[in-house]
This record gives sequence, structure tokens and C-alpha cells, in this order.
Amino acid sequence: MLNSPHDPKAIAGRAAADLVPDGAVVGLGTGSTVHFTLLRLAERMRSEGLRILGVPTSLDTERKARELAIPLTTLDEIESIEVTIDGADEIDPAFDMVKGGGGALLREKVVAWITKREIVVVGPNKLVPRLGASYPLPVEVVPFARSVVLHGLRRLGAEPVLRARDGVAARTDNGNEIIDARFPEGIADARGLEHAIDQIPGVVETGLFLGLAHVLVVGHADGRVEVRQRPG
Ligand code: 5RP
Repeated sequence: MLNSPHDPKAIAGRAAADLVPDGAVVGLGTGSTVHFTLLRLAERMRSEGLRILGVPTSLDTERKARELAIPLTTLDEIESIEVTIDGADEIDPAFDMVKGGGGALLREKVVAWITKREIVVVGPNKLVPRLGASYPLPVEVVPFARSVVLHGLRRLGAEPVLRARDGVAARTDNGNEIIDARFPEGIADARGLEHAIDQIPGVVETGLFLGLAHVLVVGHADGRVEVRQRPG
């Protein structure tokens, strides 16, 4: 009998949910991999009586968590988050990341910033030797400043495109827009680039997540799961 292939997203998302301790405040990331984390957390609540308080990073995750009866709290009620589980669009060997494919980068970064243990869940296709080579960098911008930021990003060597849905600029949960900035050669100096982009007025946040991830959970199609700690 042939083994049925496993979904790397499901393998990673579920395995990370098993790392959540009882009683924790848990940052709930956004995306199709975290979707499996939410399902597994709800399963553990039913089967083991796991008690958690979730902090959602998007309206989409908030809706899913409510449907699964995962209790939620807000940043106004807490000072820090014990563990957050979130996806990534790219992650390099130092665990620096590009995020924001789902448009939730601002809330994801705020939550990551106050998280003690950020667990990133991915399939092997998200592992890259250098950021920016396979995925554009999302930049959240105030709509008024979109043209200024587009010009500014071009001056930094990017090929920027305003993210649109059905011909209309897509809006984030915060009422802003996203510019996807492709860097044809990849990103050589992520810290320098983040600083330079932050200088452009109208930029709200970039999808560069530098030094924020602690643990990487990689799911594989053969059912294996790898759990790695950040090097250094
Ligand atoms: C959303 C994100 C997601 O974490 C990222 O896009 C990965 O999503 P998926 O797990 O669906 O591949 O940054 O803003």
C-alpha cells in the first residue's frame, strides 16, 4: 500500500501547537499554516483540557479562533506573550524572515515584539539561503503616501507593486495598503534595508522580521517534523 503524502503545513502547524504549555497567553499568527495550529489547539482544549488565552494577529485569525471557541484577550490586557505561533513567506539560516504575504505584517510584528518564544511554522519551500530572492517584501503604507513610498522603494533598488484585489488597492485590517517590493538580486543587507525603508514617510511597517524568531518548526511531506532552535 502506498503511503499517502502529508501536507507539510499541517505537519508543522499541528506540531507547534503541541509545544504550547497549559495556562499560556498565546499569540495566534495568520495564514494557512497557522490554520492547522488553531485546529490542533482547539483539539487539545477538548481532549486534554488545555487552557490558553489567544492574541489574534488578524481579523481572519480572530474569526477562526472564535469559531473554534478559543478564548481571546487583547494587548490592552497583557504585557507580554509567552509563546506565539506564526507562519513565514521566507526564512533564512539565521531565522530572519520575510512576512506579510497575508497582509497581517503589522499586527504580527507587534505581537512578535512582545513574545518570549516566537515559533515559526513552515514547509521546506519557505527555507531560503537569502531573503528576497523568491518572494517580494511587503511594506504596509498609509494610502495618502503610496506614490511617495513607491518612488522611495525604487530608489532603493526595488521593483514595487501596489497590492490589488479585483483592480482595487487591497486594504489591511488597519485600513492601510500594501506595496510588494521585489528585489531582483535578493536582499543583501536586511538590517540596512529595513532602516532605509523606515525613513520613507508614510511607511507603517515592513515585512522584514529580524531577530524575532526563536524556534523553527518545519513540516515535511513524508510526515517528518523538524524542530530547530535559532543558531547562536
Ligand atoms: C501573513 C503572513 C503569513 O504568516 C505568511 O504569509 C505565511 O502564510 P502561509 O502559512 O499561508 O503560507 O505573514 O501576513
